[in-house]
Amino acid sequence: MANTILVGAQWGDEGKGKIIDVLTEQADIVVRSQGGNNAGHTVYLGKKKFVLHLVPSGILRKRKVCVIGNGVVIDPVNLVGEIDGLEKMGIKMGSNLLISETAHLVFPYHRELDAQREVLKGKNKIGTTKRGIGPAYGDKAARTGLRVLDLLKPEKFAERLKAKISENNAILKAFGAKPLSYKKILADYLEAGRRLQPFVGNTVVYLHDACLANKNILFEGAQGTFLDIDHGTYPYVTSSNTTAGGACTGSGVPPHRMDSVMGVLKAYTTRVGEGPFPTENTELSDFLHGMGREFGSTTGRARRCGWFDAVATGHAAMVNGIDDLAVTNVDGLDTLDVVRVCVAYRCGGKRYDHVPADVDVLAQCEPVYVEFPGWKSDTSGARQWKDLPSKARTYLNAIAELTGARLSIVSVGPARDQTLFL
Ligand code: GDP
Ligand code: IMO
Ligand code: MG
Repeated sequence: MANTILVGAQWGDEGKGKIIDVLTEQADIVVRSQGGNNAGHTVYLGKKKFVLHLVPSGILRKRKVCVIGNGVVIDPVNLVGEIDGLEKMGIKMGSNLLISETAHLVFPYHRELDAQREVLKGKNKIGTTKRGIGPAYGDKAARTGLRVLDLLKPEKFAERLKAKISENNAILKAFGAKPLSYKKILADYLEAGRRLQPFVGNTVVYLHDACLANKNILFEGAQGTFLDIDHGTYPYVTSSNTTAGGACTGSGVPPHRMDSVMGVLKAYTTRVGEGPFPTENTELSDFLHGMGREFGSTTGRARRCGWFDAVATGHAAMVNGIDDLAVTNVDGLDTLDVVRVCVAYRCGGKRYDHVPADVDVLAQCEPVYVEFPGWKSDTSGARQWKDLPSKARTYLNAIAELTGARLSIVSVGPARDQTLFL
């Protein structure tokens, strides 16, 4: 498998968790390199459902090492809760989990500020997960953040936390929000630090040695291309680089060690939160929600749904350098008479073949569709490419060709064996 970067090629929730779990069979190490517990990656082990937020989705497989890299922002109290929850479900965490000492920490004031800023934005809100991601990366960029290694030096940590709480309480007061208790946060965080200490280490050196030993490393992207802070639909984005480059900066593994990039995409499109979404379609949303599908794994919010957008996925192939595609949720379209694919946008008499940078323009874009006949049969039992109805194969070949990358994996259900390798 060599070293593979896996990214979401749409707006997140493409089914990355499922594909990571499947590919982990061939990997030695799985690395998260950006984002925080805004991510929700669903993996099924038989009938048991796991939703991973910070712990990499490779954790369900034995004898694999999962790394939380330097580019991730960690809410340590929440991470302890996630580890405990996984252990209760029978997943043991020992030397198979490694946490970067230089990853930045998320604090309750980040969460509170995230929520307050959303209220202040009113109808222009981003629709964040309210996990404090933006404010935590903000502190990192402003060079005022606290990191995992600080948590392991209690005296100095207490001093720095005190200053941070007093500064942030003044800001929260201006928002009219309640002040936070320094004592409680200090106690909770030091306790979380004690629990996490055995997992903390220098992940950069670990991954460097793993590369030298020719280990197979899988980089698990969180969120999706159009939520990238640089390449997404700014400001309706998250606060990290969700595109392939983020895997390098967020892990310390240099670009020339990476062998391929896999883009995960749904056979249609979804988005949760605010922001432009050219192919959004209420009928398709109602249809998918009616089947009990497309409710967020982190916040439970109903996801907005729309047709496959090949302008967006083509753009994603370009900025990520996608070699291989994993298309998920093909079974979601099984009963439709007609399936649509957006091949261009039109706005103000102009045709766009790339996603325009200005969200005001993108919000005005009308999709240009081509139609494909539906295959009108159940694909969830398919186990090989040749098991798929020919109309489904035509559709999948078309979306891969329009995206500009090789179709390598097709997923027809959430389970491990509902995965077809081409
Ligand atoms: P992620 O954030 O990219 O890991 O995706 P999520 O886990 O948030 O959302 C994807 C949803 O689709 C989850 O409920 C998965 O179990 C589910 N899923 C993934 N692949 C398939 C598929 O091929 N068919 C069906 N029916 N569900 C799938
Ligand atoms: P996974 O890894 C889908 C969205 C939020 C919001 C915007 C900013 O499961 O694909 P944030 O809390 O990051 O400041 O929110 O980004 N968002 C996601 N949408 N999947 C995710 O992760 C997301 N993580 C954040 O809904 O629109
Ligand atoms: Mg998700």
